[in-house]
Amino acid sequence: MTSTKITRTAGRATAAAGRHEARLLWHGNRGLFALLQAARHAGPVTRVPRLGWVVTDPVLARRVLNDHEHFGMNGEGGVGHLWTQLFGEEMGRFFGGARHTEVRTAARDLFTEDAARALIDRSQGAHHAALARRLAAGETVDVADSARVLAGRMVADVLGLPADRPDGTYRALFGAGERLAALALGTTASTELDPATVRRARAIVEDITADVPGAYRTGGPDTLLGRCREIGLGPAMARGLATLLVIAGTETGASGTVRTVALVHDTGGGRALLEDPSLLDGAVREGLRVAAPAPVIGRHVVRDADVAGRTLRAGERVLVLTYLATNGAGPFDVRREYVPETRQLWFGGGRHLCLGAAVARVQVARMLATLLADGRPYAITHRRAARRVLVPSYAELRATLVR
Ligand code: HEM
Repeated sequence: MTSTKITRTAGRATAAAGRHEARLLWHGNRGLFALLQAARHAGPVTRVPRLGWVVTDPVLARRVLNDHEHFGMNGEGGVGHLWTQLFGEEMGRFFGGARHTEVRTAARDLFTEDAARALIDRSQGAHHAALARRLAAGETVDVADSARVLAGRMVADVLGLPADRPDGTYRALFGAGERLAALALGTTASTELDPATVRRARAIVEDITADVPGAYRTGGPDTLLGRCREIGLGPAMARGLATLLVIAGTETGASGTVRTVALVHDTGGGRALLEDPSLLDGAVREGLRVAAPAPVIGRHVVRDADVAGRTLRAGERVLVLTYLATNGAGPFDVRREYVPETRQLWFGGGRHLCLGAAVARVQVARMLATLLADGRPYAITHRRAARRVLVPSYAELRATLVR
């Protein structure tokens, strides 16, 4: 092939990958799709009627997330506002208070790079080995279903919930988290929940946390619930934090995994990774940058603040559009170098920077390694977008090895 033809083919593949991604946003979350389309052509900080301020620039986005004096998690627009309505004031105070620092400090060693590798091996290793065997035998596997089961297994393990149940238990845990998160679909304009939504949410929380009291009482020091007990957090807050971890760690992680698998495939990155395995970390970073599974981060304006010459008033809300801020660097490219402006904005920034970032990265890397373990690229034979979900993703992504 001539170099012009190669460039043209690569351009077509990149455009197709972009279309698949756009379809996921459209089917998953129409409100988000519309917001991203509208904000794409807005300035770096814009006031949108009924929504509040919208930030699309990566440097300004990080500035907002790092500025805890002016922007908070509690109050209209912040995610802490949602948690307060479900679990009460103590949970709300947690996001902005000393307890937050205390819990993060107590949990830090469970989320280091080494701990993340051990956690993924322990909770997902057997499933990956089975997937690799099935692929090598010529079978087609559903990467999306596996990603959901694996996310559920990982979260159960780190919390100290029973880890030895069949896949269905963890698929159900994932499903409950997805249903709870979907209740937040209508909160882009306001984080105030109506009483019926609160009732539905509390019923789902009962499902998610059925095993939490036992794990809280007996969990060892290497489990998050055991740590909660050790620092005297109390069973009610432990339930709240367990739910937070299920919400924060399953949908985002599964979406990041399955979309990275698709992006690598759609752009011909599989062959590149087989030829040069040192590209793997970059492929994971690119997948998460482009998919940005936490596409919007909300904050409440606590005090009047100046952002790039605009005055944001106390009581207003800010939506940091991480999806646009990270995608500004361009489409998925398995060979793209680290982007300094973006850094790892898909994991947020400041005090609330994703606690599970290392876990998420290892999880995506392990899935790619499994799909490429036989030394052959994989083909996607069928895909279906998830519908009406908070985090756009694939409901189904079937892959098989190329002969
Ligand atoms: C690709 C996957 C993931 C993405 C894109 C992601 C993204 C984020 C973002 C943007 C935040 C900050 C939210 C805010 O500031 O309001 C966050 C927080 C958090 N994430 Fe993740 N996350 C991912 C996976 C995970 C996993 C696998 C876990 C757990 C094992 C996890 C646990 C958490 C927790 C506990 C917080 C709250 C941190 C705090 O408030 O101090 N996340 N995540």
